[in-house]
Amino acid sequence: MNTPKRYTITAALPYTNGPVHIGHLAGVYVPADIYARFQRLKGNDVAYISGSDEHGVPITIKAKKEGITPQQVVDKYHGIIKKSFKEFGISFDNYSRTSAKVHHDTASGFFKKLYEDGKFIEETNQQLYDEQANQFLADRFVVGTCPKCGNEESYGDQCENCGTSHNAVDLINPKSAITGNVPTLKETKHWYLPLDQYQEWLKEWILEGHKNDWKPNVLGQVKSWTDDGLRPRAITRDLDWGIPVPAKGGEGKVLYVWFDAPIGYISSTKEWAKREGKEWEPYWKDQDTKLVHFIGKDNIVFHCIIFPAVLKAEGSYILPENVPANEFLNLEGNKISTSKNWAVWLHEYLEDFPDKQDVLRYALTANAPETKDNDFTWKDFQARNNNELVAIFGNFINRVLVLTHKYYDGQVPPSGKLSDADEDTLMLLKKYPQIISKSIERYRFREALMELMNLARLGNKYLADEEPWKQIKTDPERVKTIMNIALQIATGLSVLCEPFLPFTSKKLKSILNVSSSNFSEKNSIENSWNSSVIPTEKGTNDEESLALTWNDVSTKNTLLPSGHQIGKAELLFAKIEDDEIQQQLDKLQASKKANELANKVTEPQKETIEFDDFTKLDIRVGTILEAIKVPKTKKLLQLKVDVGIDTRTIVSGISESFSPDDIIGQKVTVLVNLAPRKLRGVESQGMILMTETPEGKLAFVEPEQEVSNGRQIN
Ligand code: MF3
Ligand code: ZN
Repeated sequence: MNTPKRYTITAALPYTNGPVHIGHLAGVYVPADIYARFQRLKGNDVAYISGSDEHGVPITIKAKKEGITPQQVVDKYHGIIKKSFKEFGISFDNYSRTSAKVHHDTASGFFKKLYEDGKFIEETNQQLYDEQANQFLADRFVVGTCPKCGNEESYGDQCENCGTSHNAVDLINPKSAITGNVPTLKETKHWYLPLDQYQEWLKEWILEGHKNDWKPNVLGQVKSWTDDGLRPRAITRDLDWGIPVPAKGGEGKVLYVWFDAPIGYISSTKEWAKREGKEWEPYWKDQDTKLVHFIGKDNIVFHCIIFPAVLKAEGSYILPENVPANEFLNLEGNKISTSKNWAVWLHEYLEDFPDKQDVLRYALTANAPETKDNDFTWKDFQARNNNELVAIFGNFINRVLVLTHKYYDGQVPPSGKLSDADEDTLMLLKKYPQIISKSIERYRFREALMELMNLARLGNKYLADEEPWKQIKTDPERVKTIMNIALQIATGLSVLCEPFLPFTSKKLKSILNVSSSNFSEKNSIENSWNSSVIPTEKGTNDEESLALTWNDVSTKNTLLPSGHQIGKAELLFAKIEDDEIQQQLDKLQASKKANELANKVTEPQKETIEFDDFTKLDIRVGTILEAIKVPKTKKLLQLKVDVGIDTRTIVSGISESFSPDDIIGQKVTVLVNLAPRKLRGVESQGMILMTETPEGKLAFVEPEQEVSNGRQIN
C-alpha cells in the first residue's frame, strides 16, 4: 500500500440565510463527501471541513424582512443546516460557524498580520450611500446593471449572470435594495487588497501550472478575469454585522464577508484539531498536504483569485491543489431559487423520505452538473431509483442473498475448479477499485458511479449466464462455485459503494457480516460531528467480523471465506410509486404559488396630485344589468350598466375572473366621465373600478351598505 497522504478537503460554507437545497448538495456537498470518504477508505489522513457562513448582507436582509436580529437568523438556519447534513450522512470531520470565537480570532488575526506587513492599500473614496436608510450600500444592498454583461439585477459585489465580481460603484443605474432610492456618493475609508500585484503570479500558478489538471470551466473563468485585468478589491465594509476591522480608523466597519468566510475553513480545522488533540498546522502549512476546495461556479473568483492572494500575502500557507467547481443544478426546468422558494429543501426531503438518503445521493451524482448546468426532475429521481438502484444493484444483491440462504442456509459455499468465465469475472472484479479510483481522482463522480453500477451489472450478467437456479438440479457442485463468486462480487460492491451510498454500504456489510476497516467509520463513531451513524442491525461481534479496505478488493483472492455465515436477506432499495412523485410535484407548485403571493409587492405611492385633479373624476355607484363575452377575446366582457344618469355600455377586462351569468345584478363603482374608447370594435363608456384578492383574483369595489345607482363617490 502507498504511504498515506494528508488531505484537507473543504466544502463551501453555506450562507445561513436559508436551509440547504439539492442544488447545494449536487454542486458541493455530495461530491466532496464522496471524495472525503474515498480518501479515508484508501487509508489517507483526511480533514473534511465546513461550517456555516454567518456574515454578509443576505443575512442582514433576511433579518430585516423577518423582523428579527441577524443572530437569530443565523442561529435558526445553522441548526437546520447542521442537522440535515448529519442526517444525510455528510461525513464532515468538523462543521463550525463563522460566528464562533475561534473564527473571529482567526480572521481578525489574518487581517492584522496583513495590515502590519503592509499588504493592504488604505484609501478614502466615494461609496454608494442611501440617505434615507442612513447607510452605505455594499454588496447585496445595491442592485444595478452589470458593467460586463448588462444584467439589470447585478449585485454590488457580484453579477450572478456572468459571474463577474466588481466594485459597487461600477454598477450602472444603481438602486438601493433597502429603499429603492438612487444612491448618492459619500466619502469613506477602506482597506484594499491590491489584486493587480498578484495577477502575474496567479496566471503563472493556475493558467500555466494547472492547465492540465483543473477543470476547463474553472480555468476559463480565471483566464477571463486576468485578461480583463485585476484591480484592488476592498476587503472591508461599512456595515454593522460581521467581524470588526482590527485597525486604526476601522471603528464601525467590518471585514468583507468574502474576506472572512474562506478563513472559516482554517478556523474550523483549528476547532477540529483541538477537539481531537491534533495539530492543525500540518493541514494548512505542510507542503505535502493536498488542499481541495469543493465549490459551486459562483464561488470560483473567491477561491481561485481572492483567497489564494490572501494566503499568498500571509506567506505561510499552502495553496489549493485543485478547485473542482461545479456548474448549477436546475429544478424541473427552472433555476433553483431560495427567495422564490423553487427548491427541494434537504430537511424536507429527509422528512418525506426518511430512509432514502442514498437515493438522493445517487440521483444527484448520476446527474451531477460537472461540466454543464443540469436539471433535476422528480421523474428522473424515480427512474434512477426504480430502474437502476432497485433493478440493477438491489436485484443482484437480493438474488445472491436469497439463493445463499435457500441452498446453503446462509453459509458461503466453497469454490471448486474455476471456469474461464469465472476467472474473467474475478479478474474484472479486482480491476474495479482502480477503475473507480481513477475517475474519483479526476473529480469525475458521475463516471465513477457509472463504473460502480457496471460492477453490479457484471454480477447480474454472471448470474444470468450461469443460471444457478437451473444448474442446482443438474450440477449442485458447480452451483457452489457460482454462488461463491457471486458473493465475492456482492462483498466487493459493499466496500466500493461506500463513498457514494454510505447507508447502503453499511446495511449490506451488516448483512454480509463484514465490517470496513476504513477510517471514515472509525472517525464517525468517535467524532462529535457524526455520532448519528446508522446502527448495525445485527449484533455482530466485531473481532470476528471481517474488516475490508478499498485496496483489499483488488489484492485479496477471496473477500468472503467459505463457511462464513451471512445474515438474513433484506431488500436494499424499494420501488418509488407514482403517487409519491406526484406529491412532490404538487408540493413544489404549491410552495411556489404561496411565495409569489407573499412576495407580491405593494405598488409605491403615485405622484402627488392637487385636490382639483381629484374633483375632475366623476365616480358613481351602478349595477350591472347584462353581460356577454366579447367574441374572440380572452379577457373582455361587454356590460350594460345602470349608472343612475343612464344605462351604458362598458367593456371590462374581467372575463378571466367572472362568468357573465354570475355578475348580473352586481353593484359596482364606475368612473363615468372617462372619455369613451373603442375596444375590439365596441365603444366603452366608462370604467369599472376593480381590485385584487390575495389569490390574484379580481374583485369588485362595492358600497358597504345599500346605495342607489348614480350616487357619487367623493
Ligand atoms: N456562503 C458562500 C455561498 O454560499 C460560500 C462561502 S465559501 C467560503 O456562496 F469560502 F467562503 F467559505
Ligand atoms: Zn454580469
